[in-house]
Amino acid sequence: MGIIIKTPEEIKILREGGKKLATVLYKVGKMVKPGISTKDLDDYAFKLIKEMGDEPAFLNYKPAGASFAYPASICISVNNEVVHGIPKKEKILKEGDIVSLDLGLKHKNLFTDMAITVPVGEVSVASQKLMQVTERALEAGIEAAQGGNRIGDISYAVESFIRPHKYGIVEVLAGHGVGKSIHEDPYIPNFGKAHTGAKLESGMVIAIEPMINNGTKNVILDKDGWTFRTADGKNSAHFEHTILITEGEPEILTRT
Ligand code: MF3
Ligand code: CO
Repeated sequence: MGIIIKTPEEIKILREGGKKLATVLYKVGKMVKPGISTKDLDDYAFKLIKEMGDEPAFLNYKPAGASFAYPASICISVNNEVVHGIPKKEKILKEGDIVSLDLGLKHKNLFTDMAITVPVGEVSVASQKLMQVTERALEAGIEAAQGGNRIGDISYAVESFIRPHKYGIVEVLAGHGVGKSIHEDPYIPNFGKAHTGAKLESGMVIAIEPMINNGTKNVILDKDGWTFRTADGKNSAHFEHTILITEGEPEILTRT
C-alpha cells in the first residue's frame, strides 16, 4: 500500500476537520456525568457532527475481517473496556468510572481520528494516574514524530515512557496512518525499537493512540465482535491525536 503523502489542499481540509473533531469530542466529554447513558453521548456526538455538515466516520465502518459494521458514531469504552465499546441505552455511567471516547470525523471526504479518557465525577487516585500517564505517553509519542525519524522512534518513545509505571501496553492494537481512509499505512505499535521502520516524511498524517492497562497487557474481544476488554478486568485508558508530520515538530490536527 505505502504511506500516502497528503497535498497542501488535503492538509488544509484535514486541519479544518481535526479542529471540528476536537471541538465535538470535548463537548461530548463535558456531557459525561453520573446517570447519563453511553447511547445519550452517542446521540449527542451524531447530532453535533451532522449540524456541522460532516459525517461520523465510524458509523457503519467495516474494516476487512470484521464480522459486522460498527453500529454507532463514537466508541465508548468504560473502565475495563479498552477500545471499541458500543454505546447502549442500558449502559449508565456512574461516579468513579473512567470513560474512553474515541471519535472519527469525515470532513470533505477526509478523515481525522481522536480519543480522550475522562473521569465520571470523582475517580480513584489510581485511575487519575492511569489517565495522566497515558496522555503523557501520547505526548511523548508525538514529540518523537519528527520528520526524518522512523515509526519505531514513536513506538519506542511511548513504550519507554510507560515502562517505569509497570502498566500493560496493549500490543494487539496500534496507531495508524489516517486521512483518505480511517486506517492507512503505516501501522504504529505502542512498543518497539528506536531507529526502525519506515521513515517519517513531511505531509504524512498519522494517528498515535496508546492503550494502557492498569494490569496485564492482554485483552479479550467480547462476543459483540467489537469491544476489547482487559483480560484481568483492570481499568484501561486511551488517548489519540491525528498529527501532521513536518520537518520539525509535528502539528497536532485534532485540537481546538
Ligand atoms: N480510533 C479507532 C481505531 O483506530 C477507530 C475505530 S473504528 C470503529 O481503532 F469502527 F471501530 F469505530
Ligand atoms: Co485510531
